[in-house]
Amino acid sequence: MTLAMAPGFRSPRLLTFDPRISDADNPLGAIENACIAFERGRISFVGNQLDHPGSQLFPLVPLLTPGLIDAHTHACWVGSRHDEYAIRMAGGDYREIAARGGGIVASSRALAAATEDEIERTLLHRLRRMLSLGVTTCEVKSGYGLLPELELKQLRAIAKVATNRDAPSIVPTFLALHSVPLEHQLDRDGYISAVRDNTLPRAVALAQFVDAYVDANAFTVDEARGIASNARALGLGVRLHVGQFADVGGAELAAELGALSADHLEHVSARGIDALAAAGTAACLLPVASFTLGQNPPPIAALREAGVALVVASDANPGTAPTESLPLALALAVRLYGLTPEEALIGATRNAARCLGLHDRGMLQIGARADVVAWDVAHEYALVQPWGTSKARTVIVGGARVA
Ligand code: NIG
Ligand code: FE
Repeated sequence: MTLAMAPGFRSPRLLTFDPRISDADNPLGAIENACIAFERGRISFVGNQLDHPGSQLFPLVPLLTPGLIDAHTHACWVGSRHDEYAIRMAGGDYREIAARGGGIVASSRALAAATEDEIERTLLHRLRRMLSLGVTTCEVKSGYGLLPELELKQLRAIAKVATNRDAPSIVPTFLALHSVPLEHQLDRDGYISAVRDNTLPRAVALAQFVDAYVDANAFTVDEARGIASNARALGLGVRLHVGQFADVGGAELAAELGALSADHLEHVSARGIDALAAAGTAACLLPVASFTLGQNPPPIAALREAGVALVVASDANPGTAPTESLPLALALAVRLYGLTPEEALIGATRNAARCLGLHDRGMLQIGARADVVAWDVAHEYALVQPWGTSKARTVIVGGARVA
């Protein structure tokens, strides 16, 4: 039997992430001497090897987990912004970067110059590399088109890649308000109206979520509320970039709109945290961005104490999180943010699925999608160490081996 044909695996250690079999001594619902089997893309068995008659035929691997879920990425970019990093390291901030033609508008120029095919190919290759790191579901935002036709071009490219069975599953997000394009610098309100009246109605068919960048030097709470509540009325879920550089009340807005996640949160008040907890809005933590920017961590202890669900994502983007690696984000979440390894891993599986509104993955249980990673390491703590290479041996998406 070849691995490509394998309808299952056995392993000395399998993490279900199933709360029904988790407790204080076994926080990730681990099963020892485990076996997992798939049928028609779903998990048909998960349990002890002794309880599955065919288990001895399955390949033996060191560790099994659900596929990782990256709940916040700007993975659909083209071009390169390596020059910005040098400016930043020399002490320049986003204003200097912008003055020299960099930042989000630089990615917007590159996207405008690329064909839809090029955008699609670049995204597919990037997602294939993410897959090889163990990521089986990936949220992908637009937000580099900025102008209506270009945002739609970006969303169409994302939708095309989403049909490719060799890529992770994609959750597309319309990042409606990311930056005011140069053409509209003197007509900010006109731009926001165009996003609402022109881009949004056409983006709805291509996206599951709407997002907006609510921050100082980005968009205000009122500007974001206008677009996000319209998007919600059209059927999109809400997630927001909040408090990356300053607390302008974005967490409270996320809670008010019933957002599934508020992302970044380096700057958030006690009131904002309470609002997130009361609304059941998850905190999506992006440690690669705060590492790149040299920032202090979000108030993790307060978020934890308030009972806000913690998610960890890569923020993959060419400016503030130049990485494709969710495992790197997990390593930094533990080392820089002080998450326990268990919290970090739950944040990239079960909690990540929930904050994307997905109830068929993020755990290994009968009936769930067969999105599974067989790792080359014997214990999950090695998954949150900063190794720098992939630790995934085999990656299964919907029951099929893809990496
Ligand atoms: O999540 N904060 C805004 N957006 C991105 C940065 C995108 C970019 O620089 O291209 C972020 O960090
Ligand atoms: Fe982001």
